[in-house]
Amino acid sequence: MALEPHAFLKTLIQRAGLTEEDKQLLRSQSEWGFKVAPEMADHFYNYLQRDEEMNAILNNGEGRIHRLRETFIQWFQEMFTGMDNWGDAYADRRWKIGLVHVRIGIGPQHVVPAMATVVHEVGKRLRNDGQSEELKDALGRICMIDLAFIEQAYIEVSSSAVLRETGWSEALFRRLIATGAKVM
Ligand code: HEM
Repeated sequence: MALEPHAFLKTLIQRAGLTEEDKQLLRSQSEWGFKVAPEMADHFYNYLQRDEEMNAILNNGEGRIHRLRETFIQWFQEMFTGMDNWGDAYADRRWKIGLVHVRIGIGPQHVVPAMATVVHEVGKRLRNDGQSEELKDALGRICMIDLAFIEQAYIEVSSSAVLRETGWSEALFRRLIATGAKVM
């Protein structure tokens, strides 16, 4: 069941429909992305801090908010540069981000609305700056790819932990999930 991040990114690029034109467009606007990243980080962390549960996670640990602001800015900028043109380094980085969130106990219920906030705030700023619909669409696709990495990490880590602890086969595990879903 172990996920292979490089192949996973290729699948997601295909699935989300991120084209070569999208990649070129994102790269060509990376200066704009770098410029607005700090403002997007402010929106993001203001949003998280308005939620009691997420605020508690943010304030658990010395210097966490400061560190997070810096890593968010870097993450945001990488959506425009694609690091190694959305290759293996990009995939490894996104996978690691997913694992960090699983470790802290941040699940789909936290991450999905948080990413929606990013999409919403970046959309407003794009409009104000007269940026194109094409750039908005390309950013939406890359945000969904990054979101899928964080979500999938949650599933992969949970399933691997159960399989390791119990010694069950993957087929048995899948059957139990399907049966469980039927009775809920
Ligand atoms: C759009 C969704 C999100 C993105 C793009 C994002 C981005 C990141 C990045 C890039 C890191 C650094 C990972 C590393 O150390 O390698 C990180 C860590 C972290 N994120 Fe998120 N995050 C998201 C959602 C959330 C949510 C919903 C929370 C809830 C509170 C959260 C809390 C944290 C915490 C506590 C850390 C670890 C900070 C530390 O102690 O170093 N993140 N995030």
